[in-house]
Amino acid sequence: MKPKVFVSRRIPQPGLDIVEKECEVKINPYDRVLTRGELIEGVKGIDGLLCLLTDTIDGEIMSVNTNLRIISNCAVGYNNIDVDEATKRKIMVTNTPGVLTDTTADLAWALLMSIARRIAESDKFTREGKFKGWAPMLFLGSDVHHSTLGIIGLGRIGQAIAKRARGFEMRILYTDVIRAPKEVEDELGAKFVSLDELLSSSDFVTIHAPLFPETHHLIGETELKKMKKTAYLINAARGPLVDEKALVQALQERWIAGAALDVYENEPDLAPGLSQLDNVVIVPHIGSASTATRERMATMAATNLVAGLKGEVPPNLVNKEVLD
Ligand code: DGY
Repeated sequence: MKPKVFVSRRIPQPGLDIVEKECEVKINPYDRVLTRGELIEGVKGIDGLLCLLTDTIDGEIMSVNTNLRIISNCAVGYNNIDVDEATKRKIMVTNTPGVLTDTTADLAWALLMSIARRIAESDKFTREGKFKGWAPMLFLGSDVHHSTLGIIGLGRIGQAIAKRARGFEMRILYTDVIRAPKEVEDELGAKFVSLDELLSSSDFVTIHAPLFPETHHLIGETELKKMKKTAYLINAARGPLVDEKALVQALQERWIAGAALDVYENEPDLAPGLSQLDNVVIVPHIGSASTATRERMATMAATNLVAGLKGEVPPNLVNKEVLD
């Protein structure tokens, strides 16, 4: 008998093909995030769940099905899953690391360039028919080349950001809970500093840290006030890393020059006032959104799921303790 699987939202076909070959599959029939009640219904009677970062998978969801063996998240971040609870219940949790690194780094760079050179603002201006010819003071922005980049979190994505920064001949600072090996620092030309030094010295601060209780509101009022008035904040990691209410105030009162965001504290809602600001670029959590990368993520999530259901150790098992 094939194992039973629930896919909480349609993912790219290459991933579905893998799951459909090996499992009996139910898929969310709607093109939207499921309600809590629908998710609970979906989880009943299955062996494996393939879910997305928009699904909150907590103890309540897990408790409706004591036979659940694996939760495969189609994302590298897994803050939407209560991993401790899953481990207690001997449920494997997997994610999709590596395959979205470059795509997400590209997007973070696009955000950085957009806010520095006022691309979104000037695109809107041009579409509105306001362009009356070249002008010496039109949309003056900030130089990216030869400026200082501060990377918070020098993991896979942080390193990919640093590699791109070398092409712009930037000075690269980073901070992390663990200092990177010397070879990595040398290869990237990145200098390890404290968070305070990074905030006060960088022209661009970009966040690439995971969201844990300890990193919640890593950047709040105090940190924003430590940044240069001419600096920009970029967040393509997770919204709750930044206190979005404090950020809106920082942008309104010009504690910093601008921000460019792919992620939000209470997605899909935005903090009041954010979308009215000119000194912010906002895009709808599209960091990994290239066709090729989303296919790779779907394939990886499906491969993890099927491996776990076959009794193998999934390649991207997050909670290895579950095997003890
Ligand atoms: C992830 O995988 O965590 C990304 O945010 C998805 O775009």
